[in-house]
This record gives sequence, structure tokens and C-alpha cells, in this order.
Amino acid sequence: MATMKAVCLERFGGPEALKVTELERREPGFGEVLIHVHAASVNPVDYKTRAGQYPQVTQDSLPRVLGRDISGTVESVGEGVTHFKAGDDVYALLDRDHGGYAQYVTLSAHLCAPKPVKLDHTAAAAVPLAAITAWQGLFDQGELMPGQRVLIHGGGGGVGHFAIQLAKSRGAEVVTTVSAEDKEFVQSLGADQVIDYKAEKFEEKVKDVDLVFDLVDGETQERSWQVLKDGGTLISTLSEPSSARAMEHHARATSYFAQANAQELRQIGKLIDEGKIRPHVEVTFPLERAAEAQRRLESAHTRGKVVLQVED
Ligand SMILES: NC(=O)c1ccc[n+]([C@@H]2O[C@H](COP(=O)([O-])OP(=O)(O)OC[C@H]3O[C@@H](n4cnc5c(N)ncnc54)[C@H](OP(=O)(O)O)[C@@H]3O)[C@@H](O)[C@H]2O)c1
Repeated sequence: MATMKAVCLERFGGPEALKVTELERREPGFGEVLIHVHAASVNPVDYKTRAGQYPQVTQDSLPRVLGRDISGTVESVGEGVTHFKAGDDVYALLDRDHGGYAQYVTLSAHLCAPKPVKLDHTAAAAVPLAAITAWQGLFDQGELMPGQRVLIHGGGGGVGHFAIQLAKSRGAEVVTTVSAEDKEFVQSLGADQVIDYKAEKFEEKVKDVDLVFDLVDGETQERSWQVLKDGGTLISTLSEPSSARAMEHHARATSYFAQANAQELRQIGKLIDEGKIRPHVEVTFPLERAAEAQRRLESAHTRGKVVLQVED
């Protein structure tokens, strides 16, 4: 039986609940591929799941390997897989039942897309969940159109830094709220107006917004109604916006969960290879230090993404 190193969550808790273990490596079944993982990124959903704050993952579904993003090389393919072969470099957004914090992962070939040629595996692993969330929030849910004004709350983070670039690539005017230390960073990504959320009130700096893309929640979401155009749209990755407030503003407002979508990941990869968008990796950790990587994302200011590098 082939085994692999993985970082496993046995019970909910702090970062110390993550344990480096040796697990069985599952051979690919029909329609599946076995990926040799070179890098996996860390997302807020990972530490929320670890802490038992993610309702879809219950104690009786543990132990499990966390991690939704991987970039790696196809090791072998199961029957019925025609699009990929051993040796192909791919990246993927994993579903909740497959963990990326591991040397290998076996998953449906339908979830994989070719790794962007311009990126190494570390940078590619930073892309799937954050960029797909940005894509689906702005385009699928938000229906952002060229020339519209979008306000992105949390533009310096994992999702936000992709959202700024994707919105610009659609021809939108981008306003974003960030900490002062991220001002130049988001300007370099194309943001037209940057608001320091700690020093300024965004509702005094911007108005007539067609789309608010909220990655922050709480009172930031509540104050956002003041800047939305009548008939505008508010899309949240967190709590469901108030339907009463939406009605007052004749607005469309919803929250959503990002869904794995290899077709969108291919389109995102194309934009990366054309030089239109790029991931920013703030810091990397070896797989064995996944606990430290989560602690870092959870408690310190992070620009862009935190990535785990997986050794052979
Ligand atoms: N629904 C879904 O499917 C889905 C998918 C992905 C993410 N999410 C959620 O969306 C949120 C963002 O994800 P992420 O990966 O981008 O997280 P992240 O990388 O941790 O980034 C969060 C960003 O928000 C900024 N921020 C914090 N408070 C702010 C405020 N009051 N105003 C403006 N910016 C503020 C932070 O900046 P500072 O560090 O400078 O404070 C940071 O840059 C998380 O809560 C995540 O769980 C949901």
C-alpha cells in the first residue's frame, strides 16, 4: 500500500489540532486522476473549518485533510479519463471532501484545469478558490458590466486582489477598501480609487456604486447600502444581506458559496497567461508547518495569499 504525508484534522481546535500524519494514497477510480501535489494554498475556510465554525463540516466527518487549492502533476489517471495524462501540470479547486494539504490527492478529472504556463506551482496554487470566488461574485452573481462602478471591500486579501484585476479586465471602475499598507499594492493591480478603511469612512468617499462586492461583512456590509445606486447589486461571500434593506434600495442582494468550476478556472488561467491578472503570494511555508501558515493567515495582516510548498 502506497502512503503519503498529509496534514490531518482529528478534532476541532486551534492550529495545534493539525497533525502531520502518514495516510494511504488512493489509486484513481473511474474518471479520477491522482495528482502529485507540489503546492496547496491556505484559505480562511481552512481555519474556520479547523475551529468548527464551518457548518458543512461536522465532528463526525473528522478526521479529514483540509485545503481546497492545489497545483501539481498528474501521476496516473483512472479509466475513462481522456483529457489528462501522467505528467500534465494541473491546478484545481477541490470539493470539501478532498484535502490539498497532502503529497497526493485523488479527485475527479472534471475539477482540474491545465496549470497556467506563466506560473510555477507555488503561484498557481494561490489561484483556484480565491480567483473563482472573485469570478463568480463579480460576474456570475454580480453581473458586472463594462463601465460600471464596483466597490470591493477587502481588496488586499486573497479574493480581493483577484477581484480588483478581474473587474478591471471587464472594463469596470474599481473602488476598494484596504489598510493603508496595501494602498500601493492595489493601485498596482489597477484600482482606480483606494480607501483606507481604518482612517476613512468609505460612505463619505464614494457614491453611486453599481455593485458592492463584500468580503468583510458586519457593519461594513450594513454601511454599504448608503453608497449603492438605487437598483444596484450587493453580493457577499459571508452573511446573507438584509432583504428589507435590499427592497428599500430596489437592489438585488445575495450571498453565495463558490463552486468548483474547471471551465472558469481555464478562463482564469488564460487571463493569467495573457498577463491580465496575476496572483500575489505573500509568504510560503513547508507542508509540515501548515499550523503556522493558518495562524499567520488568521492573525496577521496578509497581502494576497499564503501557500504551502509540498516536498516529494
Ligand atoms: N462564500 C464563499 O464561497 C467564500 C469563498 C472565499 C472566501 N470567502 C470568505 O470571504 C472572506 C475573504 O476571503 P479572503 O480569502 O480574501 O480572506 P483574506 O485573504 O484573509 O483577506 C481578507 C482581507 O480583508 C481585509 N479587511 C479586514 N477588515 C476589513 C475592513 N473592515 N474593510 C476592508 N477590508 C478589510 C483584510 O485586510 P487587513 O489585513 O489589512 O485588515 C484582508 O486583506 C473570508 O471571510 C472568507 O472566509 C467566502
